[in-house]
Amino acid sequence: MRPSPQVVPFGPDHLDAATSLLSDRQRRLRALRPELPTAFEESAAHLPTLRALLERDGASGVAAVSDGAMAGFLIGYPRREPIWGRACWSPIDGSALADASDPELIRDLYAAWSRHFVELGHFRQYVHVPADDPDLTAAWFHTGFGIMQAHAVRDLELAALAPDGVTVRRALPGDIDRIEDLLPLIAEALARPPAYAVRLPEQLATYRDSWAEELEEPSAHHWLAEDGDQVLAMATFYAADPGPMVPEGAWELAVAMARPEARGRGLMRALLAAGFAEARESGATQCITDWRTAALPTHRSWTALGFRPTHYRLHRHVDERIAWAGGRRG
Ligand SMILES: CC(C)(COP(=O)(O)OP(=O)(O)OC[C@H]1O[C@@H](n2cnc3c(N)ncnc32)[C@H](O)[C@@H]1OP(=O)(O)O)[C@@H](O)C(=O)NCCC(=O)NCCS
Repeated sequence: MRPSPQVVPFGPDHLDAATSLLSDRQRRLRALRPELPTAFEESAAHLPTLRALLERDGASGVAAVSDGAMAGFLIGYPRREPIWGRACWSPIDGSALADASDPELIRDLYAAWSRHFVELGHFRQYVHVPADDPDLTAAWFHTGFGIMQAHAVRDLELAALAPDGVTVRRALPGDIDRIEDLLPLIAEALARPPAYAVRLPEQLATYRDSWAEELEEPSAHHWLAEDGDQVLAMATFYAADPGPMVPEGAWELAVAMARPEARGRGLMRALLAAGFAEARESGATQCITDWRTAALPTHRSWTALGFRPTHYRLHRHVDERIAWAGGRRG
């Protein structure tokens, strides 16, 4: 039996090996998902992100080492926010295993990594896993995690006509009054069973002002579908930030909503067709988006519209009582 890798604190000496694991992973994933960017097959492309991750306030990581070689690593950082709670996060480039490593190793890494955060009261935990690595995903599931958010991609080849009587056009800065009653629709969809995801009333109160600004934002591409004077649906696109899971030059579908009574008529398909055509003209070939997988109509719509997950955000909420109920009699 081969000796198990030793799990040690992640230090500056581990950086180069970790970037190599990420570039090897990118090669593995690109064999299945050629739309992912080639640039991240180079180790050096991962260095700035990994450095930035380690420099975050409170960042902590672990590495698994076997015979002097890195078998895997896991790095994350704490966030304290009203919605997400006192939590530790590890982004998609915050972990990777060597090609030959047993996916079970992620559980040993997580045991050491999470201990640090749990001792500091970070019971909510968010990690990311490539969608095309089912064995690694299973290892996370066996440790109490579940899928919360899908991050996905599709190409921009989509032709669709708006339903009869519906016009599709770019939104203008003066459209704020016309879109205002659509703004809470995502929050409402997220709150519904079985998603039960919260948006706080004080956040909703800021929507009108922030959207009035957003309509003026030159880098945003807002599209509306309207019937006469009534806006029925809306979709907003931006050029996406680069990353290992973002096809080169991709656009991002950041916001999308349709009035409940207008859903299922092909409005979103028509808005995507319009936004995608604009993206193609700028040279893009792919679009990314993400959604809460427990929001059923949303999940089913994006899946039907051809978005295919590249990675998932997984979530685990450790029982807070572990802080005092540690198996010894009090
Ligand atoms: C997600 C949403 C924008 C879809 O808009 P829509 O105008 O209803 O979408 P379309 O009518 O263009 O339908 C697109 C595809 O999804 C499918 N679809 C739509 N609603 C569905 C549902 N409830 N269940 C299953 N499939 C559904 C349609 O059948 C269609 O597939 P098809 O063209 O192969 O038949 C809309 O449901 C919505 O506004 N939801 C609330 C807000 C939200 O969650 N936004 C996304 C945030 S990430």
